[in-house]
Amino acid sequence: MNPKVESALNEQILKEEYSARLYLAMAIWSEVNGYPGAAAFLYEHADEERLHMMKLVRFVNDRGGKAELKDVDAPPRHYESLLDIFSQIMEHEVHITDSINTLYGITVEERDYTTGNFLQWYITEQVEEESLFNTVLDKIKLVGPDKSGLFHIDKELDGMTTVTTSGPE
Ligand code: FEO
Repeated sequence: MNPKVESALNEQILKEEYSARLYLAMAIWSEVNGYPGAAAFLYEHADEERLHMMKLVRFVNDRGGKAELKDVDAPPRHYESLLDIFSQIMEHEVHITDSINTLYGITVEERDYTTGNFLQWYITEQVEEESLFNTVLDKIKLVGPDKSGLFHIDKELDGMTTVTTSGPE
């Protein structure tokens, strides 16, 4: 595997792993602060990020490279509100989209079209994620600090997960 592409893919593995930890930290905060729906939504999203990481790990190894696990920073433990959480998520996902685009650019420069083709999945996924999180953020902004509005948004977030707060029993 092209060493420049391999190294960039390994950087992306770290970013996806950090994303999983970030959403896990946000899920934990939501769960202990009375937002079970947001917690279920974010736990599920943390699992998705781990899948994003694993897909990269398998690809690097399958293509004759070696996936590397690097030190992962601890995400923040404290958040101000659901608004704070989803604002930070939006910011984070925009950063991830940027990173995927840069990665894609490297594959073009290096004429590694196989990896470029593989990255198409991530490019589409980022469009979907940004759109989803933007929708949630807009709703949270709309209700402002109104407690009953936030209660309904929390319920709605629960409904957006495949495994709801009642758990997978
Ligand atoms: Fe792995 Fe949320 O992008």
